[in-house]
Amino acid sequence: MSDETRADLVVVGAGVAGLTAALSAAEAGLRVVVLNKGRRWRAEDPDQSTSTYYAQGGIAVVLPDNDEDSAELHVADTLAAGAGLTESRPTAEIVGAGWAAISRLIGWGARFDTGDDGHFLRTREGGHSVRRIIHAGGDATGAQVQAALEAALAVSPVVVHDEARAVEVLTGASGRAAGVRYRTERGDAVVWAPTVLLATGGVGHLYAATTNPAGATGDGLALALRAGAAVADLEFVQFHPTMLYVPGARGRRTLVSEALRGEGGRLVDAEGNSVTAGVHPLGDLAPRDVVARAVTAAMARTAAPCVFLDITPIDEVQRRFPTVMAGVRAAGVSAEDGLLPVVPGAHYLCGGVATDAYGRTRVPGLLAAGEVARTGLHGANRLASNSLLEGLVMGRRAAQVAFDRRAESAEPVPVGAGDDLPAVDRAALQDKMSGSVALLRDARGLADVDRFLRGAPPRPQDSRADTEDAALTLTARAVVAAAVAREESRGCHYRADHPESSADASSRAFLLRDGDLVI
Ligand code: SIN
Repeated sequence: MSDETRADLVVVGAGVAGLTAALSAAEAGLRVVVLNKGRRWRAEDPDQSTSTYYAQGGIAVVLPDNDEDSAELHVADTLAAGAGLTESRPTAEIVGAGWAAISRLIGWGARFDTGDDGHFLRTREGGHSVRRIIHAGGDATGAQVQAALEAALAVSPVVVHDEARAVEVLTGASGRAAGVRYRTERGDAVVWAPTVLLATGGVGHLYAATTNPAGATGDGLALALRAGAAVADLEFVQFHPTMLYVPGARGRRTLVSEALRGEGGRLVDAEGNSVTAGVHPLGDLAPRDVVARAVTAAMARTAAPCVFLDITPIDEVQRRFPTVMAGVRAAGVSAEDGLLPVVPGAHYLCGGVATDAYGRTRVPGLLAAGEVARTGLHGANRLASNSLLEGLVMGRRAAQVAFDRRAESAEPVPVGAGDDLPAVDRAALQDKMSGSVALLRDARGLADVDRFLRGAPPRPQDSRADTEDAALTLTARAVVAAAVAREESRGCHYRADHPESSADASSRAFLLRDGDLVI
């Protein structure tokens, strides 16, 4: 391998978790390399950016001057949303570290919306019992966070390779992570490092329509499984209740932030009736899994392809929600009558690569943070706006682990050119997943998708699409295996053939052994 470099930490992914880790590690004096599959933020092509860029609502955080809030209340809301699978210890640690994480982000240049009195403006979203979500640029929180992190990165010593796709986490004879093999248009290259952080985001493109940008193809999950790490809670794919409905559209669609409901927007069905009346005491601001299922039920009841978000009660909707309204205009959807057509859309993976509260996986030296990781914070259903918070806190913790490991040397391992990997056709995979592994599942549909995925032919890894299709195929298999194994309904996982929740609320981890996913 001609192109080889050495670092103390190699980060795969350039969203909030990855860049927080990279900046924190560089501040501690570590040599850091970031491998970014896309391109850094460019206004003209944001689909090549990260899921962080697309976050709208904001960041859930207990502010020191918010008398109506407390860490205990934020933890309680997170546990309630998580439907019995959220773990209280990591949750308390992440929530407790929230304000310090925001303060560091502000130190890197991020700015949040404030009122005339200089205090942060706070909004509310589903499952939160108080207003605790801070935001930037109205509903452009993620774009502003991404821009601040990238500006800080530009003046840091961190080395960033754009359009560099990771194809393998290298592990030595001892099983420890030793670096990453990646590919650019110039060919294969390796970064050797004793600590590898996967921060690759989510899996939205397992489905035909998603709120996620183009790169959300499960890459980190596939890399982790192939390296010997465990994944857990993958059956809990969160569907956002309000993705803009555009007939026949595939791929990324505009998110209609839950904060619109926090500011007075109301969900109505095609006949003008409330979608959530009588469903949950929090009504339209119930946890996301509850609202998404209520939307699906309303669509079935009215035989309509969508429901509507009535935005007429919202003050100054264009000023407060410029990103959403620009997305609505760009999609050619009229908002003149104040009714936005919306459907549930694939949005967030609550599970992920199983880690401890510092991002450590079962493979020594291999860490995961952000959406790709399963820390125990999200359980069976993530509480809205907890994800940027988790990325900030866990990115920082991953940097601390890398610092502690800095004296370890990356064990050199022979580097091959890489094997062909099983990959099915992407559109066919997305249609199968959308049909049988979305909001409603049953044993028959899951078995059909599993059969289809197991028949994947081997494919050389020539292009970015090849690597992504292989990652989508393996990730889909893992999601299906988890959904098959959970014969109950809980949070984001609803089995039409097992509609009740079981008394045993435990989380299950899977490993890849000889090509099979085993518990
Ligand atoms: C939203 O703005 O509704 C999305 C927030 C989130 O997914 O946490």
